[in-house]
Amino acid sequence: MENLIEIQNVYKTYQLGKVDSQALNDVSLKVGKGEILIILGPSGSGKTTLLNVISGLDKISKGKILYEGKNIAKYRDYKMTRFRKKNLGFIFQTYNLLEHLNVYENVLVGSSLGNVSTDVDTIIDTVGLTKHKKKYMYQLSGGEQQRVSIARALAKKPSVMFCDEPTGALDEKTGKVVLESLVEANEKLGTTMIIVTHNPGIALIGDRVVRMNSGKIVEIKENKKRMAPKEIPWG
Ligand SMILES: Nc1ncnc2c1ncn2[C@@H]1O[C@H](COP(=O)(O)OP(=O)(O)O)[C@@H](O)[C@H]1O
Ligand SMILES: [Mg+2]
Repeated sequence: MENLIEIQNVYKTYQLGKVDSQALNDVSLKVGKGEILIILGPSGSGKTTLLNVISGLDKISKGKILYEGKNIAKYRDYKMTRFRKKNLGFIFQTYNLLEHLNVYENVLVGSSLGNVSTDVDTIIDTVGLTKHKKKYMYQLSGGEQQRVSIARALAKKPSVMFCDEPTGALDEKTGKVVLESLVEANEKLGTTMIIVTHNPGIALIGDRVVRMNSGKIVEIKENKKRMAPKEIPWG
């Protein structure tokens, strides 16, 4: 598989008063084009920090973050923002949707961020919200809202989607439907997915699983076969 991202010897230190806290300690990792990569680890192990530095939301203390060979860790803020806006999609535990817009309009806003034309209806179909197009956010369940945020992120056709605990606020049933939307998007659109979770069941839907502990990668495991979200154990 062709590599899209390569992280080389990355360190991230947070200064907390007089003490330094090492959130990432010599992390190296490759992400393949079109793969579903899972980052798994307990709370505080550095998963969010890793996701935030790969996506340029946060700066590294040392190392390289290469996208198709280009070191984005060297980018100035405005260049980083432009790169992120054009190429990267984000899904968080909270949905951050526009309450005064309906589903269709929320996704349309997402598509206006990229510089490619998108068929908003097709994207809404991909996440299974065709029947809910005209609804406002308060008329949707948590799982449906999360699928709107997935559609919104997909609408600019990002090369990578960064998902930080995307089912963290959901129950098993709706959480699995949300994961199905991510897998569907990966299969239909070829979008590379990096999914952070502390739930070992979710690790089974990916191609590879990066296990973290105390700011370090402790294991990278390949799954022989992706498991369908509806088949995975929960928690
Ligand atoms: N902005 C910050 N300032 C100081 N310390 C932080 C900051 N963000 C994270 N940390 C610390 O870095 C470590 C890793 O945190 P995080 O990446 O959020 O872990 P996870 O997502 O695995 O729960 C923790 O010890 C956390 O307290
Ligand atoms: Mg986290």
